[in-house]
Amino acid sequence: MKKLEQLYEGKAKKVYATDDPNVVLVDYKDDATAGDGAKKGTIRGKGVVNNKVTNSLMRMLEEKGIPTHYVEEISDRETYVKKVEIVPLEVIIRNVAAGSFTKRLGVPEGTVLKCPTLEFSYKNDDLHDPLINHYHALALGLATQEEIDIISDYAFKVNEILSQYLAQFNIRLIDFKLEFGRLADGTIVLADEISPDTCRFWDATTGAHLDKDLFRRDLGGEEDAYKEVFRRLLGE
Ligand code: TMP
Ligand code: ASP
Repeated sequence: MKKLEQLYEGKAKKVYATDDPNVVLVDYKDDATAGDGAKKGTIRGKGVVNNKVTNSLMRMLEEKGIPTHYVEEISDRETYVKKVEIVPLEVIIRNVAAGSFTKRLGVPEGTVLKCPTLEFSYKNDDLHDPLINHYHALALGLATQEEIDIISDYAFKVNEILSQYLAQFNIRLIDFKLEFGRLADGTIVLADEISPDTCRFWDATTGAHLDKDLFRRDLGGEEDAYKEVFRRLLGE
């Protein structure tokens, strides 16, 4: 396969066409944003960590029965993935209260939830990705009921598999965001990334943040935290 013209540049990744119409190339950047781009910066080495961590988690999930867009890692920052139409929903699963959940509902950070929760945000930067429910998603035509059922089922399964998987590396999965896509035939697959940018990872012993909250909250140490996740998961 060959890398062709750039199709799209997002906040953390660039997407290129390839000579296969069903495959695109994703190129992970070190650029970091928070608050819808209000805060901008760089986390050195982030692109490499997010590319390799995402790919290793996607391969693991695929083996456990979750269909993903993953095709092949081709360099430290570049990966071939199946071309999808992204369903414009951010699917957020939470096990422990943190971030916007604590602010919206007045629950102290770190509170273990009685059961995992799922929420949808409408992927729309102009509107700042507003929280919506599944009736809104249906009413706006963002997804069908059947797609929402499949997506919710996959998201909870990913939570179980990933929580268990990360525990062996002494990482606690607090919450995370997934995105799904439709293949040309309409099949729903897990897409985008699963990385310290899109998950809250806490050290299971100390509770230390091993994720983008260090950058979002100006706590510092984000480069080392990303490297630490890489080291634990990929042993390098
Ligand atoms: P939140 O608590 O800010 O709503 O974030 C929930 C999870 O979603 C957290 O693991 C970080 C992730 N996330 C993204 O991946 N992208 C985003 O734009 C936001 C706001 C959160
Ligand atoms: N996606 C958000 C932004 O682009 C960052 C985040 O909080 O993860 O600003």
